[in-house]
Amino acid sequence: MATRISWNRFLSEYLNTELSHYLWLRALSYLEYVGYRKMVKALQYQEVNREVYHHLSDEIRHSYLLKELAEKSFEGRYFHVPLEPSFIHCAESYFQDIDREVDLWVENLGQGERPYLCYLLVSYLIEKRAMVVYPQYYAQAPENTFKLILQKIIKDEREHLNYLEEHLAKLPESKAFQSSPIWPFEEARFETFLGDFKQCLA
Ligand SMILES: [Fe+2]
Ligand SMILES: [Fe+2]
Repeated sequence: MATRISWNRFLSEYLNTELSHYLWLRALSYLEYVGYRKMVKALQYQEVNREVYHHLSDEIRHSYLLKELAEKSFEGRYFHVPLEPSFIHCAESYFQDIDREVDLWVENLGQGERPYLCYLLVSYLIEKRAMVVYPQYYAQAPENTFKLILQKIIKDEREHLNYLEEHLAKLPESKAFQSSPIWPFEEARFETFLGDFKQCLA
């Protein structure tokens, strides 16, 4: 699988240098934050049930945990290094592109805008991606402090994925979504995100 190979290469290349590792953690933290913000926007008050509440609170916690990990690691040397707008832009545009693609797919079902369905489908794509990203990061993480946090996040992401899979299995749109071109689109978009991140570091 193309993403897996280049993702592994990306990790081994960028975790070896403190500053790029720091910025990678901050970028991940920002991705978690954007994911949280998009979910809040997509969900109506009446849709906030126990699972949604857990999902939301977990994602903003992941964002904080990764930010804190970045700032406390490397002997606090990069504490004052801000996440530059270019990193923010590459994280936001990854999410925006996935969002737009899912919105279009849902619109083509012919039942108008369905923000809750979009929330479920975008989350499903992102959780699948998270379950590639975090376990491999965990495997290559240099120290136990990193592994400890990543282990917590992986546990949560697995739970989110289970909840979404259970939920989606009951929806008639699920089967068509599973075989939709959004999956290869996301894969290619993630590759682009990694490329953009490299460019930001250059
Ligand atoms: Fe997360
Ligand atoms: Fe998640």
